[in-house]
Amino acid sequence: MTQETVTITDNRTGKSIECPIKTGTEGPAVIDCHTLYQELGLFTLDPAFVTTASCESKITFIDGDKGILLYRGYPIEQLAKQSSYPEVCYLLLYGELPTAKQMEAFTQNICQHTLLHEGLVHFYKGFRHDAHPMAMLVGVVGALSGYYPDAMDISQPEHCNTSAIRLIAKMPTIAANIHKYLVGQAYVYPRNDISYVGNFMQMMFSVPSEPYQFNETANKALEVMLILHADHEQNASTSTVRLAGSSQAHPFSCVAGGIATLWGPAHGGANEAVIRMLQEIKTPKNIPEYIRRFKDKEDATRLMGFGHRVYKNYDPRAKIIRGICHDLLQEMGATDQALFEVAMELERIALSDDYFIERKLYPNVDFYSGLILKALDIPLNMFTVIFAVARSVGWVAQWTEMIQDTHLKIGRPRQLYTGYQRRDYVPVSKRK
Ligand code: CMC
Repeated sequence: MTQETVTITDNRTGKSIECPIKTGTEGPAVIDCHTLYQELGLFTLDPAFVTTASCESKITFIDGDKGILLYRGYPIEQLAKQSSYPEVCYLLLYGELPTAKQMEAFTQNICQHTLLHEGLVHFYKGFRHDAHPMAMLVGVVGALSGYYPDAMDISQPEHCNTSAIRLIAKMPTIAANIHKYLVGQAYVYPRNDISYVGNFMQMMFSVPSEPYQFNETANKALEVMLILHADHEQNASTSTVRLAGSSQAHPFSCVAGGIATLWGPAHGGANEAVIRMLQEIKTPKNIPEYIRRFKDKEDATRLMGFGHRVYKNYDPRAKIIRGICHDLLQEMGATDQALFEVAMELERIALSDDYFIERKLYPNVDFYSGLILKALDIPLNMFTVIFAVARSVGWVAQWTEMIQDTHLKIGRPRQLYTGYQRRDYVPVSKRK
């Protein structure tokens, strides 16, 4: 079969090159134009990577027009309903669902790594009492690199695998310690005799003075939240992790870079911003005024939890969360029914407004996720930390995939330079 190509001609010189079209198993084909500079002396310009595939990957697929999300081929709806977060971690990391035996070994392995080095626990004391939890998370995960120097040797697959396991195991402990530090309570140590999610909840909410009451509804809701956030192909934070990792930096410092990227309100920080927005709107009668502001280009306010670079349809994760939100809020006797009603009315009005219809702006994962986290009593400023705990497997799975590529090259984008041309230095005495 002949290779399909795209011909790129430089009309200034008449010189052409044939760029191969590469087809994946799903999604749009790509033009492989890596010889463009060599052959024609041209770069491509694609600010914010709106049309650039930065790598090949076998992990996660999104069809943004149809609202489809697959982890290793499995639809997110099936995983959210039938799987567990640790099983999804296995799937993302190793590519297949585990057998019962493989799952048992994987769980055992995670359990061996849930504790933090006590030196790292002391590290928390350096943070201000009112530090944002994401600032702490960036710092603590970055500091984790200092405790595992062996992980720097990425030529050893077993070191890379141990780094992945360590990260998945320690993230709940790191996150729960941040919460405990900020509320002034004693750190709660991990328990390896209970589930991953149950352990995370007890580290977040139990206190030494009384037995902890597990709430199965809450655990199930958190499990689903972690599954839904586990990976999302080449988003901003994952691309950060890959770019940092391409220099063969320490995996935990690469993940710290990913966490820093996730913090922004255009990315993971939107879950916190949505709740602040709903609280500000307060009641359905104020919605029209806010809708006017969201559409006003002079006003920086955006409808948080709406819009997505890839989804031009309902985000499948938002659909799942919306579905469980109603039942969960009722079952947990949560006081946030009113906020949920504001959210649903806001969604209804936005989805029938020409501005949002024309731009294909739909609710994304963050639109309803904050309501669930709030019902679980997770403080607002911890929401993005929970997202980071869930996404840590995605970051490390994508990092592992990149590291295992025998053609690994440092990521190095080029630029269209628009600054001064060469000019000579002027001594200060001669400057006007
Ligand atoms: N409210 C109002 N207008 C919007 C919104 C919004 N939430 N999102 C996009 N637009 C408008 C934007 O002003 C632009 O209009 P025009 O064409 O007239 O200039 C058009 O829609 C296209 O927007 P864009 O900013 O070029 O799109 P993007 O792909 O660069 O940005 C986004 C995607 C998610 C950053 C953006 O939709 C946004 O800021 N949404 C709110 C923040 C949010 O919910 N973020 C979470 C994203 S999902 C989870 C995650 O990534 O972690």
